[in-house]
Amino acid sequence: MKQIGVGLLGFGTVGAGVVDGLQKRRELLAQRIGADIVLRRIADVDLERDRGVVVDRAILTADARAVVTDPSIDIVVELIGGTGIARTLVMEALQAGKSVVTANKKLLAEYGEEIFSLAEESGVDLYFGASVGGGIPIVRVLREGLVGNAITSLYGILNGTCNYILTRMEHEGLPFGEALAAAQAAGYAEANPSLDIDGFDTAHKAVILASLAYGFHVPMSVAAVEGIRGLAGIDVQFARELGYRIKLLAVIRRDGEEVEVRVSPTLVAHDHMLASVGNVFNAVMVRGDYAGDTLYYGRGAGREPTASTVIGDIGDIARNLLAGTPRHVRGIARLPSEPPRVRALSEIRSRYYLRLMVLDRAGSLGQFTAILGAHGVSIHAVSQKGGPDDKEGGFVPVVTLTHVAKEADIDAALAEIRAAGIIGEEPVKLRMLD
Ligand SMILES: NC(=O)c1ccc[n+]([C@@H]2O[C@H](COP(=O)([O-])OP(=O)(O)OC[C@H]3O[C@@H](n4cnc5c(N)ncnc54)[C@H](OP(=O)(O)O)[C@@H]3O)[C@@H](O)[C@H]2O)c1
Repeated sequence: MKQIGVGLLGFGTVGAGVVDGLQKRRELLAQRIGADIVLRRIADVDLERDRGVVVDRAILTADARAVVTDPSIDIVVELIGGTGIARTLVMEALQAGKSVVTANKKLLAEYGEEIFSLAEESGVDLYFGASVGGGIPIVRVLREGLVGNAITSLYGILNGTCNYILTRMEHEGLPFGEALAAAQAAGYAEANPSLDIDGFDTAHKAVILASLAYGFHVPMSVAAVEGIRGLAGIDVQFARELGYRIKLLAVIRRDGEEVEVRVSPTLVAHDHMLASVGNVFNAVMVRGDYAGDTLYYGRGAGREPTASTVIGDIGDIARNLLAGTPRHVRGIARLPSEPPRVRALSEIRSRYYLRLMVLDRAGSLGQFTAILGAHGVSIHAVSQKGGPDDKEGGFVPVVTLTHVAKEADIDAALAEIRAAGIIGEEPVKLRMLD
């Protein structure tokens, strides 16, 4: 049976899962793929740390370049992360004619264009299934299963840390800070959680999905990103009373010649399938013009689920190598014509949840609704929350759900409301999923 050599860069959480999986499933993979996948080298800076798997010390090295240049290695698996040495090593591996598997969303979101171009020039495979959705093979779905569909929209809960925090806030009424501390204590959030809670991890994944769905490189700079940091518990509870859950949602959709790529905390109706995705789970809902709605659900991170997808990619490349047809499935297929434009955030249309602390004085509420109306924002429902005891310094919370409106009109109305002196603090504006 033909042997396919694999070299691993980064023996961390996912790397150790891949090593474990390749060792334990070597026979199963050989049966299914028709090749013997052999792990030939593992590079990491620390060769002493216990990784929870037993390996032959002879295959360990502190020199990652030795892996990239090793002629017995056909597939280089990059699991170091970040855009420093990982970027250099991926480029060197592709230049050396090796196929590459990576789970590095940050690298692809920021440098995808040069990396995909180099893979194409070198005529080798670049697989990145685990960069979005961990154990959910959503990249494969877009590259293969839905290849015959024009993608109308894609909605994703793509960050388990945020989803865990939001679930705890909703179910237990925890304030954001306590829910974050709980996520850290459970090992779901980093000591520095910024990448997750400020929405950038979700945005990295969103631009990869948008690039796959629409066939052009969507740069990070065009994605509109809002995270959940500072989301008030009161809004999570008000949303719940109104029949919604707040999810950190990636929204990618096409409307005519424009696409939207954005990430923000979003109200999702209780009976929407995405609303039932709780705790650390991820899900992606894709609407294709032929398939209609399809939903993908699973663990978006973690050693085994992520390693499962990495091993799936290794298996696919092995099949391509056996068949002698690398680039069997294209990375980001390029559209022959002009790529669509990315819509400015001010131009998007959505329903909105607004929470304002309105001056408890006759006429304030009327003034507020009149300003919204003057900007063409029509109101679906408005309710004053709490009783007389809930007044804070003469202000009462007023929650408004709008009909579909343009973001620029909402912002202009809020600016006028601020200037009118009838609100006590910064208004809260959250988008709603239709
Ligand atoms: N963890 C997940 O659930 C998950 C899910 C989806 C995707 N991913 C992606 O998978 C990748 C790996 O994530 P991870 O969680 O496994 O990270 P990790 O646990 O930090 O592992 C990275 C490993 O690479 C090592 N490393 C650093 N510099 C190196 C170098 N120059 N040469 C060789 N090894 C080096 C690190 O060593 P030191 O620790 O000693 O620095 C560490 O052992 C990232 O791109 C991440 O975004 C992870």
